[in-house]
Amino acid sequence: MPRPLSLLERLGGITQDPDKPAPEPTHISKTELKAKQREQEQEAQKPTYTEKQIKQEREAPIEASAFVGRRAVTSRNDVMQELKLAVHRRIVDEMTPDEQATLVRGEEAREQIRNIIGVYASRELAESPYTMSRGERIQLVDDISNELLGLGPLEPLLKNDNITEVMINGPHQIFVEQYGKLKITDVRFYDTAHLMGIIERILTPLGRRVDEGSPLVDARLADGSRVNIIIPPLSLVGPVVTIRKFSKKALTINDLIKFGTLSRDMAVFLEACVQARLNILVSGGTGSGKTTTLNVLSSFIPETDRIVTIEDAAELRLQQNHIVTLEARPANLEGHGAITIRDLVRNALRMRPDRIIVGEVRSGEALDMLQAMNTGHDGSLTTAHANTPRDVLSRLETMVLMAGMELPVRAVRTQVSSAIDLIIQQARIRDGTRKITHITEVQGMEGDTIILQDLFRYVQDSIDNNGKSVGHYESMGLSPMFMDKFHMNGVELPTSFFGTR
Ligand SMILES: Nc1ncnc2c1ncn2[C@@H]1O[C@H](COP(=O)(O)OP(=O)(O)OP(=O)(O)O)[C@@H](O)[C@H]1O
Ligand SMILES: [Mg+2]
Repeated sequence: MPRPLSLLERLGGITQDPDKPAPEPTHISKTELKAKQREQEQEAQKPTYTEKQIKQEREAPIEASAFVGRRAVTSRNDVMQELKLAVHRRIVDEMTPDEQATLVRGEEAREQIRNIIGVYASRELAESPYTMSRGERIQLVDDISNELLGLGPLEPLLKNDNITEVMINGPHQIFVEQYGKLKITDVRFYDTAHLMGIIERILTPLGRRVDEGSPLVDARLADGSRVNIIIPPLSLVGPVVTIRKFSKKALTINDLIKFGTLSRDMAVFLEACVQARLNILVSGGTGSGKTTTLNVLSSFIPETDRIVTIEDAAELRLQQNHIVTLEARPANLEGHGAITIRDLVRNALRMRPDRIIVGEVRSGEALDMLQAMNTGHDGSLTTAHANTPRDVLSRLETMVLMAGMELPVRAVRTQVSSAIDLIIQQARIRDGTRKITHITEVQGMEGDTIILQDLFRYVQDSIDNNGKSVGHYESMGLSPMFMDKFHMNGVELPTSFFGTR
């Protein structure tokens, strides 16, 4: 059986004859390594999309739907929107019981529904001063059937693969994130009732509900996108819906290198860390790419390991065969039956896992996770919300205390420092890109303080004319203290790897 290539070999183009013994890891000279690094840095600087493409996308209006609020008709586009709205209103006001029954059948009756819409469109056009080409008419029927069957005005936003997040602040203000930047759209819901109707359409198939009694809810769309809904009285701006779109293609380590999220050396190092069964904590702010990085890290886990993943809403997409995916469950409509992440972590320990991956620790489960890491379940991975490696440790301490055990702070700190080997700090920086800003080793305790040592970090040199961060990754030139774990698990890195540059 040929030995699978390591990431170092795949990225560095070093290939080995599987029958020959592996060469001494020191065979890469410092000069060669430096030249390679320079080449990699140049590669990382290359934009993923051409500047022109990004400019065109940024300037292009995001197609509005039939429910653009009423305003002065100034262009053909507006005429179409007005007509759509009028036809839609007519359908709602004049629909017969038979037609309603057809509508309830939903997707399976799409053709019949299109015919019904066609009839109402003809009636409206007969009374309207406007005319329509055949193409426009087909478009109008398509749009209205989306309104009636799918998620209405959200459909074009959900279909656009360049949009990664949709944020609805009440019926008339919809923002999207595109290429890492926030942008307002001219998509509108007709009114609050219309928005609530679409929210209901998201929740009803899941047996969930949102109302004054339980005004916030997490859910998922059919395509796996994560949705959070919060309505008045908690939200003062009307119903607020936040959709983190599930990208069709999971990002890979090569994508992250291309996007400039990390350098190749960092990637090689992280692969080695996962294979050496280090316990790794990915830390970062909201939307900084923690889950994505966790997914990429998990791709380095060998096929032979039994992996148990635990998440609130299954977002991770692991490629290995032997995976058990567990998902927490919110309480039902009567408020019973909730299964928390903490319950699942405890249960996972009885499932003979080689690796436990927890999507995000937020609360008491941190205690169980640390205990697992300290009692032989090494190689575990998780994420937490914090802005610096130092912060994430104090967040962990707070979370452990949330478990409700009366533990002295020093005991908690000792447990944190012996459980976590490595912190990957991630950030969404101002130009919209995601960067791993620190890879930091947790070395242990000195007195009452946990000793942290940066191994790699991102240094911003300047901001260019387009507002883009220009910077470089630097290795601190220090060999980490956990190298013995590397040897124990048969993972080798060239000794020159941590040489000062
Ligand atoms: N390295 C990256 N480069 C570019 N885009 C990225 C990168 N990592 C993640 N993204 C994009 O950023 C968005 C947020 O990513 P992700 O869900 O991983 O963040 P997160 O930190 O887990 O967010 P949350 O705090 O909401 O859980 C996604 O749309 C994802 O495609
Ligand atoms: Mg996440």
